Amino acid sequence: MIKLTSKTPEDFAGDLLVYLVEEGVERLPGETASLVNRALYQIKEQGDFKGKKEETFLFYPGLIGEQEELKAGRVLLVGLGQQDDNMAARLEQLRIAGGIIATQGSKVKAVDVLVVLPKEFVLSAAEIAESITEGLLLGNYRFTEYKTDEEAIEKVKPVTTFFLSDGGLSSTAVRRGMNRGRILAEAACAARDMANQPGNGWTPAEFAEYAKKISKKFRLKYKVIEKATMKKLGMGGILGVNQGSEQPPKLVVLEYKTDKKDPTVMLVGKGLTFDSGGVSLKPAAGMEDMKYDMCGGAAVITAMQAIAEEAPAGVNVIGLVPTTDNMAGGAALKPGDIITHFGGKTSEIINTDAEGRLILADALAYGIETYAPEAVIDVATLTGAVIIGLGHHRTGLVANNDTLAERLLEAGERSGELLWRLPIGPEYRKQIDSTVADIKNTGGKSAGTITAACYLQEFVGDVPWAHLDIAGTAWEYTEKSYVPKGPSGIGTRTLVNLLRNWNPLPERETKKS
Ligand code: BES
Ligand code: MN
Ligand code: ZN
Repeated sequence: MIKLTSKTPEDFAGDLLVYLVEEGVERLPGETASLVNRALYQIKEQGDFKGKKEETFLFYPGLIGEQEELKAGRVLLVGLGQQDDNMAARLEQLRIAGGIIATQGSKVKAVDVLVVLPKEFVLSAAEIAESITEGLLLGNYRFTEYKTDEEAIEKVKPVTTFFLSDGGLSSTAVRRGMNRGRILAEAACAARDMANQPGNGWTPAEFAEYAKKISKKFRLKYKVIEKATMKKLGMGGILGVNQGSEQPPKLVVLEYKTDKKDPTVMLVGKGLTFDSGGVSLKPAAGMEDMKYDMCGGAAVITAMQAIAEEAPAGVNVIGLVPTTDNMAGGAALKPGDIITHFGGKTSEIINTDAEGRLILADALAYGIETYAPEAVIDVATLTGAVIIGLGHHRTGLVANNDTLAERLLEAGERSGELLWRLPIGPEYRKQIDSTVADIKNTGGKSAGTITAACYLQEFVGDVPWAHLDIAGTAWEYTEKSYVPKGPSGIGTRTLVNLLRNWNPLPERETKKS
C-alpha cells in the first residue's frame, strides 16, 4: 500500500525513514532535519557513502541525536548516482531507488516506510512520485500463495505501507503521480501473479474470470468467445491448438470506450497457459517454464485494467486474449495437418510447437474485422530465437509502420522496458511459403523471430501493426532492484505509456511488404 502523508519526516515514528541522495550532493534541501545533514556530512567525510547509484547507508538516529529530532526507528540513505542527461534514464534511476528501498525495508522487517521525495531531481513532481512509486511497489512484490510454512512466508515479508512525503514538491502533483505509479505497478504485479500461477492454477477460464472481474470494477466492456462460437466463426488456429487439450479455449475481449470519434487501438496478447509443444513435444528440461507462455495475455489484460483505471481521453482501446494450453492429447494437431484460420487463409502445420502464431492469427484477423482499429499491437512469448538474438535484456519489436515503432521504442524507454526493432520484408516472408497450403507455420532455422512475425503479418493486412516478442524478457529479465526473480510483468507499463497520450497516426505510411 502507498499513501501520501502530510506528516513531516521529523514526526514520522515508523520503522524506516528514507532520503534519496544524489552523488556529490553535500546537503539535502533546507527543510531536512539537521540531524540527517549532520549524519550525511560525517558519513561522507569518512568515505562510507557517496550517493553512488544503488549505494545505501543505514543508521539509527536514536544513537546520534535527541529523540525529538527524529522519531523514526531507522534512517536509510539511498544513492541515486549522478543525474543522467536523459530523462528516461532519470525515471529509471528513481525506479531503481524505489526497488532498493523495498528490498532494504523488507530486510529490516519494516512495516511502515516513509520516503522523502528528492526535491532537486530534474523531473516534474508528478514524474518523481510516479517512478518512485513504481519502484517501491514493483520491488515489494512477493508470490507466496502456495507456501504453507508460515515461517518461510514471514522471512520474505514485504513492507506493509509506504508513505511519501512531498519533500517540498507540489502535493497535488505528487498525489497525481503517485496514483499513476500505483495503477501501473499494481497492474504489472497482477500480471506477475498470473504468470506465477502454475498451468493448473491459471487456465483459460481464469483469464476470462479475471477479465470479467476487472470489467465490473472499472469502466470496461467484457465479452468472451467460447469454443462453440469459435467453430461458427471458423477460428481454426485457436481450435487447432486446443485440440489436444481437456481445457476449453477462450477468446477474451475487453473494450475501453471513450468517444466514437476517437481512434481505436487494439492490443492482442498470447495467452498460452501451458506450452508442452503438443505432438512436437518440447524436451523435459525447463518445460516447467512454459507456464509463462501466457505473459503476453497477462500484459494485455492488465494494461486494459490500468487504462480503465487511469481513463485517458482521446483513444478507444480493445484488448484481445486468445487463450488455451498446447497439449498432446489423442485429438491433438499433427505435423502435416492443414488448418483454416478466421477469414479463410489455410496453413500447413510443420511443427505443433509453433502454436502462438496460430492463436494470434485468428485473434488478429477477427479483431481487425470487428473493430477496424487504426493500430494493432500484439504481445507474445513467441520465439526462442528472440533470446538468441537479444538475450534477456530487450524485447524484440517488428512493425510495418515507423511511427508506431518509434512510439513503442519511446514508451519502452520511459518504462524502463527496452525494445529493439528487427526488420521484416518479402525475403523473410518467402520462408513460410507452403507447397500445399497458403502458408506454413514455421520458417526454418534462420530469422525465427522475423518469420514468426511474417506469419502474423499475413493477418493484419496494411493496418499499422507492431509485434512485441517478449520470450526473452517475460522472465529471467535483466537483473533490476524492482524486478524480483520470476516473471517480470513486462509490457503492461509500456502499453499504458504508449496509450496515455495517443495521437492519431499520420495517414498511410504503412508499407506493404
Ligand atoms: N512459447 C514458445 C517460445 C518460447 C521459447 C518462449 C523459449 C520462451 C522461451 C513458442 O511457442 C515456441 O515453442 N516457439 C518455437 C517455434 C519453432 C518451433 C518454430 C521456438 O521458438 O522454438
Ligand atoms: Mn510452442
Ligand atoms: Zn508457445
